[in-house]
Amino acid sequence: MNKKRVYSGIRATGRLHLGNYFGAVKGMLALQDNYDCIFSVVDLHTITVPYDSSKLQSSIREIIIDYLAAGLDPKKCHLEIQSKVLGHVELAYLLSTIYPVSRLEDLPTYKDKKAQYPKYINMGLLYYPVLMASDVLLYKGELVPVGIDQEPHLEVMREIARKFNSMFGHTFPEPQRFKTDGDYVPSLSGGGKMSKSIVGSYINLTDDIETIRTRLALAPTDSGKIGGEVPKEGGVANLFSLLRLFKLDSQYKKFEQDYMNKNIHYAELKEVLTQGIYKELKPFQERRKIFEEDSNLVDSIIEEGRLKCIKIAQETMVEVRKKMGLS
Ligand code: TYM
Repeated sequence: MNKKRVYSGIRATGRLHLGNYFGAVKGMLALQDNYDCIFSVVDLHTITVPYDSSKLQSSIREIIIDYLAAGLDPKKCHLEIQSKVLGHVELAYLLSTIYPVSRLEDLPTYKDKKAQYPKYINMGLLYYPVLMASDVLLYKGELVPVGIDQEPHLEVMREIARKFNSMFGHTFPEPQRFKTDGDYVPSLSGGGKMSKSIVGSYINLTDDIETIRTRLALAPTDSGKIGGEVPKEGGVANLFSLLRLFKLDSQYKKFEQDYMNKNIHYAELKEVLTQGIYKELKPFQERRKIFEEDSNLVDSIIEEGRLKCIKIAQETMVEVRKKMGLS
C-alpha cells in the first residue's frame, strides 16, 4: 500500500526558533518514519518580503543544515529547495487561473504583511497562498505539519484542490494540517506568537545557554504577589506555556503552587526554563556542527532530494497540463 504523502516548508529568513521547532519541525520528525515525506526550504516564499539577495543562498543552506541537525533523515524523507523544482511556479500559475483575487485579498496573513511592509506590497505577497497550495498539491500531499498560523493557507489549499477537481476531474487530495502540541508558541515579549520579525520574542535553536538566559531575563512578568490562578495570557502565561512545552511538569506544578501562594520567584522559574531549553537544544547544536563541517555530504543530500522531487513533480505536471487542455 502506498504511504500518504507529507509536505511542509520553512522560509529561509534566518535561524529557526522554538516556534518553528514546535509548530513544524517536531511534526516533521513525528511523520518521517511512517509517511512519504518531502520537507522544503521555500525560498520563493522568502523573497516576498524585503530580503538581502547576497545572503539568500547561505540562509537556504542553513535551514537544510537545521533540518538535518534536528533529526530529519534523508534516508526517510526528501529535502527540497523549492526554487530548484520548477513545477512549483508553473502549477502556481495554473492554479491562480481558477481562484478569485478577492479571496486572497481578504486573508488575514496578507493583511498582516501589508501592515508590516506598507512599502512592499507586491504581487508575490498576494500570490503567497497560491504558491503554497502548489507546493503541496504538486506532490499530492495529504498531511502538512505546520503551526496554527498557517490554517488560513491550508483552507485556501483545500478550496483550490476542490475547485480543480470539480472543473477538471479528481486530481488532488484535500490536505489537512498535522497538529503538534506546540502549534502556537507564544512570544517571549508578552503578546502574540513567537516570531523572527519581532525582536525579543524568540529563542533560536542555535542559541547558547547564556543567550537563552539573557533572552528569558528580558521576558516580562508581574510582581509575583498576585495569587489566584496562573493567567491565561501575557508574559507570565507564556513562561508557563514554555514549561509545559519542554515537559518540565513537576516544576510547572511547583511554580503554579508558588504563584497561587503569592511567592513565585521568576528568576528561579527562568533559570529552570533556561536549563530545560538548553538540555533539549544541546544535542541539536552538536549534530549541527557535524553537518556544518561536511559540505560534500550536505551537497549530495540536496542533489539527491532535488532529483527525487523533480521526478514526482513531473508526473503531476503531465497530468495537470493534460487535464487543463494544455497538452
Ligand atoms: P514560516 O517560515 O513563516 O514558518 C515555518 C513554520 O513555523 C511555524 N511557526 C510556528 N509554529 C508555532 N508557533 C509559532 N510561534 C510559530 N512561528 C512559526 C509555522 O506555522 C510554519 O509551520 N507559509 C509557511 C511556509 C510554506 C509552507 C508551504 C508550509 C510555504 N509553502 C507548504 C507548508 C507547506 C510559513 O509560514 O513559513
